[in-house]
Amino acid sequence: MNDLEYRLEIAKKAALIAGNYVKKSQFNIKSIDHKTNVFDLVTNVDKKSQEIIISELSKTFKGENFIGEEQKHSDFAKTGWYIDPIDGTVNFIHGVQIFGISIAYVEDGEPVVGVIYLPVFDELYWAEKGKGTYLNGLKISVSSRNNLQECLVVASHSNNFQGIEEFDRLKKLIGKIRRIRMFGSACYHACMIARGAVDAFWSHYLKPWDVAAGYLLVKEAGGEILNLEGSKGDIFRNDLLFTNAKISKDILKLLKE
Ligand code: IPD
Ligand code: CA
Ligand code: CA
Repeated sequence: MNDLEYRLEIAKKAALIAGNYVKKSQFNIKSIDHKTNVFDLVTNVDKKSQEIIISELSKTFKGENFIGEEQKHSDFAKTGWYIDPIDGTVNFIHGVQIFGISIAYVEDGEPVVGVIYLPVFDELYWAEKGKGTYLNGLKISVSSRNNLQECLVVASHSNNFQGIEEFDRLKKLIGKIRRIRMFGSACYHACMIARGAVDAFWSHYLKPWDVAAGYLLVKEAGGEILNLEGSKGDIFRNDLLFTNAKISKDILKLLKE
């Protein structure tokens, strides 16, 4: 087993343990607090899930960088573990069962191992650089749709309302694509692209822990991730377009109109 395979196995185990804890805690949340503003929420379950993940990873990778959403951040390491202990906290609080656990190992700014677990669906997605993307052990790939009128596009809605112009951009897609959906979890959106259910994801104002694992999943499933200028996307930027690699140009043109 090489180093990345080993990292992948440990990350899968951590995601499964945390995911099962999160799933069983959804209707027994003890505390809900505000973070940067009243729309930015965290529960006791987010915090505990992060503790579980970091403690599992630390058993093997003690001393490495662990960048979890629910901790203080001074800067973002270029190499280390990016952890979102519950992606989709608002759904989680409201009893909507779309949320995931997202863990990525990033090397020199590039995700090289990515795991997303959707506990309610019992779907474990993973990817290792150069090895493809898998869902519960089966290889998956992005859709082949290239006609915008047949495409489903998802988008994020962040708690940072400076991002309000994202809705103006999204409006440009109406009447050109089949439908827009917002499922409330960036990692779920990435999984849907990786398995070909959804064709593009316009993500705005997200953080590296929201997108790092999904980035690799989409890329290894044959998709691409670009920024608004059309160049290679970077997990440290907050404007990312994930697509099946067939419709990027058309979607970017509309978003920028
Ligand atoms: C959020 C989700 C949501 C996105 C928000 C994120 P969180 O992450 O990914 O889909 O629109 O901007 O903050 O807070 O639930 O981990
Ligand atoms: Ca998140
Ligand atoms: Ca989160």
